[in-house]
Amino acid sequence: MSEVHVHRVQPAWKKNALIDNDTYLKWYAESVKNPDKFWGKHGKRIDWFKPYSKVENTSFDGKVSIKWFEDGETNVSWNCIDRHLKKRGDQTAIIWEGDNPYDDRKVTYNELYAHVCRFANVLKKHGVKKGDRVTIYMPMIPEAAYAMLACTRLGAIHSVVFGGFSPDALAGRIDDCKSTFVITADEGLRGGKHVPLKENTDKAIEIAAKAGTKVEKVLVVRRTGGKINWVAGRDLWHHDEIATVKADCKPEKMKAEDPLFILYTSGSTGKPKGVLHTTAGYLVYVSMTHQYVFDYHDGDIYWCTADVGWVTGHSYIVYGPLANGATTLMFEGVPNYPSQSRFWEVIDKHKVNIFYTAPTALRALMGSGDAHVTKTSRKSLRVLGSVGEPINPEAWEWYFNVVGNGKVPIVDTWWQTETGGILITPLPGATNLKAGSATRPFFGVKPQLVDGDGKVLEGAADGNLCITDSWPGQMRTVYGDHDRFVQTYFSTYKGKYFTGDGCRRDEDGYYWITGRVDDVINVSGHRMGTAEVESALVSHDKVSEAAVVGYPHDIKGQGIYCYVTLMAGEASSEALRKELVDHVRKEIGAIATPDKIQFAPGLPKTRSGKIMRRILRKIAEDDFGALGDTSTLADPAVVDDLVANRQNKK
Ligand code: WTA
Repeated sequence: MSEVHVHRVQPAWKKNALIDNDTYLKWYAESVKNPDKFWGKHGKRIDWFKPYSKVENTSFDGKVSIKWFEDGETNVSWNCIDRHLKKRGDQTAIIWEGDNPYDDRKVTYNELYAHVCRFANVLKKHGVKKGDRVTIYMPMIPEAAYAMLACTRLGAIHSVVFGGFSPDALAGRIDDCKSTFVITADEGLRGGKHVPLKENTDKAIEIAAKAGTKVEKVLVVRRTGGKINWVAGRDLWHHDEIATVKADCKPEKMKAEDPLFILYTSGSTGKPKGVLHTTAGYLVYVSMTHQYVFDYHDGDIYWCTADVGWVTGHSYIVYGPLANGATTLMFEGVPNYPSQSRFWEVIDKHKVNIFYTAPTALRALMGSGDAHVTKTSRKSLRVLGSVGEPINPEAWEWYFNVVGNGKVPIVDTWWQTETGGILITPLPGATNLKAGSATRPFFGVKPQLVDGDGKVLEGAADGNLCITDSWPGQMRTVYGDHDRFVQTYFSTYKGKYFTGDGCRRDEDGYYWITGRVDDVINVSGHRMGTAEVESALVSHDKVSEAAVVGYPHDIKGQGIYCYVTLMAGEASSEALRKELVDHVRKEIGAIATPDKIQFAPGLPKTRSGKIMRRILRKIAEDDFGALGDTSTLADPAVVDDLVANRQNKK
């Protein structure tokens, strides 16, 4: 290991910080010693229709059951809006920054209330009720947040699908949760390009119908005014509908463990899983982490650059910040449009204090040169955050020194769709920083490292990251498939939640996430199952077999490397390569675009027919000197061909 540069907490970070190191140590010790007492106290940070008397009731053994605050009653939209109106009705809740820099909007809490109530009344008018699943396939416009909050107001379960997913991917998600109501927009707008959301929705609805789910209503928000197809009786214009309803809607009283939302995420096998989060524990956890991790103070302008289609958008654009009465910035565009300075210009324009983004964006911007950054002021910045993938020390130092002028703490936050909120992270006024380390656990979080056999590793060690006790923001189940939940997360290491990540703990007890140890890859901060890309490839009629692995990529973190065996009689060609790339984009979406396709006459398999991915990973990394033992292969000769035709020759 090269020497690690420690960035100590600077006096300015400590000055008004909510948590200093002594407080961190004290609270952390309390939180793990007596979780019931700790969360019993912090559960009160949200408002309740009916207070809870029980706090934690969880078990990671056997059938696995996770309940928090179970006899309490509350409502998420009521916590994110209504309770703020008296004190901050005229404060901006959402700053919307459009794709076009001349396009922006501010929405106060009073306005948010009216928008969300109308939205909820429209849903209600068309039959949406508590427990129904509503699919949201939207661009980054405030109406996406209204739609989410409107669902929670009624107790409907939203399933937000990222606007970059294809009709096929959308259809699979509609069908999996039998969602009969879809909210979308005519088109999205990103980097000046139009995204045909309504057209995709139309196609998805056809596909879902064939699978057995009939979508009854499509509510369409007008974003660009682009031409779209219209199905009378099924499609509804949002602007027409909201004109017919009142701007008041009573929030439904929800039990703490009533489902809040489903969010599909990729695993190492099979189709994406519907991660289910519930009402109260989730809200307590995301609001608390939003406040302390970002050292959020009343009046701060906070910007998370994620998309609401991902968990980061759910927890840290919408629910955490709004539960805290914050001003949250929502950005429709991309980091390099109209110029490479866009992020920093938006920070100056809206005087952003807290900025939260992904390493992949930082690496891309770093590559375009410092001048794009240094020509802006960024004086308003007080906290910088990173999320979604490991941040390499070079990108970290650049973020710190160039973006933050060496004066702003970076919180490298490790978490997952499944965890609901941030689990391992520095706190700005408390934690000495090391470039590339997510540092220490948040309150109540008990990480543990184990080796491949499940042996617990103590002290400085390298292993697989588990969490040994529950926290309120944890997912409760896989929608419709509790066995899969137990199998995926609690069977590898009995009685522990297994994250799927590898991790090193150093001599100071700091955690360094080293990346996934399963067949999940992380491409530009987008999580993807290699199995999904493989199944997209083999659905092409010229493909007989495919194996997909990740390889290190300078900007994306990981690139997608595909080994493809063609049907007998099919010849490989550049044209076919392109056809396969397009095919994967059509099946999943542009985020799954293969970077490399290698045509392979055979794949390395054991005698029992199992593909040896370890070997494929090494070849994709151009590190075939370290192939290890290949003697167990059914046909060791295939490896020579794979090496000779590798696509990543240095
Ligand atoms: C990875 C995103 C290193 C990790 C919130 C995890 C990270 C997966 C970090 C979850 C980080 C996320 N450092 N790796 N700070 N944050 N990851 O579900 O591999 O989209 O398991 O949730 O991203 O991705 P997901």
